[in-house]
Order: sequence, then structure tokens, then C-alpha cells
Amino acid sequence: MAIYEINGGTPLSGSVTISGAKNAAVAILPAALLIPGRCRIENVPDISDVRILLDIMEGMGAKVEKPEPGVVILDCSIITQPMPDPALVKKLRASYYLMGALLGRYGRSHVSLPGGCSFASRPIDQHIKGFKALGAKVTEGEDFVSMEPGENGLHGDRVSLDVVSVGATVNIMLAAALLPGKTVIENAAKEPHIVDLANFLNTMGANISGAGTDTVKIWGVESLQGSTYAIIPDQIEAGTYIAAVAAAGGDVLVKNVIPKHMDCITSKLAEMGAEITDYDDAIRIRSTGKLHATTVKTRPYPGFPTDMQAQICVCMALANGTSRLTESVYETRFFGYCTELESMGAHITIDGKTATVVGMEGLHGVTVRARDLRAGAALVIAGLAASGTTRVENIHYVERGYERLIEKLTALGAKIRRVEE
Ligand code: UD1
Repeated sequence: MAIYEINGGTPLSGSVTISGAKNAAVAILPAALLIPGRCRIENVPDISDVRILLDIMEGMGAKVEKPEPGVVILDCSIITQPMPDPALVKKLRASYYLMGALLGRYGRSHVSLPGGCSFASRPIDQHIKGFKALGAKVTEGEDFVSMEPGENGLHGDRVSLDVVSVGATVNIMLAAALLPGKTVIENAAKEPHIVDLANFLNTMGANISGAGTDTVKIWGVESLQGSTYAIIPDQIEAGTYIAAVAAAGGDVLVKNVIPKHMDCITSKLAEMGAEITDYDDAIRIRSTGKLHATTVKTRPYPGFPTDMQAQICVCMALANGTSRLTESVYETRFFGYCTELESMGAHITIDGKTATVVGMEGLHGVTVRARDLRAGAALVIAGLAASGTTRVENIHYVERGYERLIEKLTALGAKIRRVEE
């Protein structure tokens, strides 16, 4: 088992380059399954979630080449095994995108239920609702979902999501791109990676409009072609480095970001007292040495992301005054890290969806355990800000979503190392 060992208390300085977005990559790579041809995807992050997804696709017969760092060429001309390996599917939440992609390509699919970070119950009823609206006959087994064309065949239609779901929006887009007729997704998710997937599909010849608004329209086309596409920068990875500077202090230029995607995060940190300067494709964050308490409620984009809840909680734990943090997407997410932060000296009380965080002078290093990806990122930030040595266990969660974390933090002056135990 490997752990991170962090000697905290050193301000961060210099620059860090953000990798391609995890949540866009795990939607765009399965989209390549829609065509019997080649796609070249650039700015692909080298993280374990992506590696598992590529292993699944390779196991299905796809040819995967990595000609240079960050570039993946996928050739899905011959799919010999259209049922993805259940053992690998269970390692990854986003493997549910194989359902939409296979339904889109073959009109049928048989995929195990996904695994991934289990910080809450994560139903897929809205994905199923979408597939059914498109004419699929869906069989839900104990640990799989199987689909075939229903009596009236597969066709575009109107789907109104009962909850704003990133996963359901992506899956319906994947399934509908090649179906006859028009599909309209109402109450769609608006996250940057929804727009990125739509842009990729459109470069392949799809006809999708409205991505980034709450109504996405997909006019089915007869065929798609291979294309070359570069994935957007990772909003949450960038937010994590920005929160790390706010918590541990310092002055860092965060490069390869889309500042507009970061507004929902940087506006809060500016309110808390960090100095933020936007450039065309970079953001500078300078700590003023003081953080003020604030109120945050997580919401779907363009609201404050639930995937930044744990990281901002660390900033709140170090702020002057009492903050309130309300989770409105995944209620049980606090349990992944709050007890661990408390063992480092944080003062947090959870009441239902809201955590009240009383800011303390500082945190101290102890051994803590990551319970999901973003909880793990928050514990790393806490370790960077804390006095003494913090040991973070269960780092395989963190490695799901952060490319070269140790290398990037070390270049910023952090004292962090990965230790095999
Ligand atoms: C995606 C992100 C994840 C992020 C989350 C919310 C990916 C691969 N993962 O997850 O990092 O934390 O968005 O921004 O992009 N829901 C239902 N039924 C469904 C689907 C969702 O009730 O069929 C509920 C969920 O329980 C949750 C809310 O809708 O309360 C949002 O979930 P969703 O946007 O679907 O999250 P994911 O796509 O799984």
C-alpha cells in the first residue's frame, strides 16, 4: 500500500499546468465507440480512471495507441467483445457511459453496473428513463443493465430529467447521436464537460445544439466519422490547486485553465480573502495570509461544484470565523473526510445537508485515510497547510483523478512524497 507523506507549512510558489479534464475524458473516450474508425484524442489525463477505461475498451477489441504523452488514438473499427469486462467496469463510475455508446453504435448493450467512488447512493434511474424514452427495452438485473430495441425501434424523443444529472445527460447524448429523429433533453446538466462532449460529437459529424444550457437538442445523423479533438482543462484539478494555495499560502500561476469555468470557485476564494487574477488561459492566486469565513452551497454548474466541497471545507477550517457549507447534490459526502479533518484539529459540526465549520488557527499533521477522490484531495491540502507530518492513506482514490500530483506539488515547493509501505 502506498501513502502520501506530507511535511506541511510550506507556502506554494511557481506555476502548475492543469491536465485534461477527467470527467470530459471519461465521456469522450467511450464516444469513440460510436464509429468503426479512428479518433485522435489529445490532452487526455494519465490517471487511473482513464487507464481503466482504456483497458475496458481494449478488452472489447478497440485498438489503443499512445503515440505521445496526453495523446490517445482509438480505433474502434472491430469490436470483438461488445460486453465490457464486469470486473473492470466495477472499478469505475463512468463505465456507465459504455451503455449509451454501445446502444448508439449497435442498438443493444449489456453492461455491468458501475463501481467508483461510493460517497453516496448513486442511482442511474434517469439514465434508464432516457434510454427508455429513446425506445430501448431495458432489463435491469441485479448487477447489470441490458438493452435492446423496443417494439417501435430506437428513435429520438423528448426526455425531461427529474434531477439535473451529468451522467444521464451524457448517456442520452451518446445514445441519441445516431438515432433517427430529434432528441430533446430538458433539465440537462450544463457542466463544461457536457459542452466538451457535444463539441467532440459535432466534430465527428453529429448535430447537437444547446449543450451548456438546460435544453440539449440532438438531431440524429446517419453516420459519424473519426476526428481529432483536444479535451478541455480540468476545472476541479485547477480548483484543487487554487484551494491548496488559499489554505497553505503562497503565490501560484495556474496554467492551462478556462477562467470562465473557474468563476464559481474563484469567486468564493476571492470572497474568503485570496487574491485572484484571471488571464486568457491562466489564473494567478496569491494568498494574503488571511481567510475569512463564508457560506457555500454546492449546486450543479454554474453553481459551486460538489467536487470542490471537501477542498473548500479545508479553507473554511482555517478561516477567521464560522462558515456554513451546504451540500445539495450528494448529501452524504461530508462523511468522506470531516472526521479525518477533525483529527487534524478542524472543528466541524454536521447537521443534515449542512456543515458548520468553526475556523481554527491551524491544523496539525496526523495519519488520515482518504475515502473517495475529492476527500483525498482535501486531506492532501490539509496536510500541506498543517504543521508537522501528515500521512494520507488510501491514495488510490486520489490517483483516480490527479495526474502527476506529487510532481506538480513538489515543483511548487511542497514537501510531499509517495511512500510504498
Ligand atoms: C458526475 C461527476 C462527478 C460529480 C457529479 C456531480 C463524472 C464522471 N462524474 O457524476 O464527479 O460529483 O457529476 O457534479 O462526470 N441522480 C439520480 N438519478 C440518476 C442520476 C443522478 O437521482 O439517474 C442524482 C444523484 O444521486 C445526484 C444528482 O442526481 O444527487 C447528480 O448526479 P449526476 O450529475 O448524475 O452525477 P454523476 O454523473 O454520477
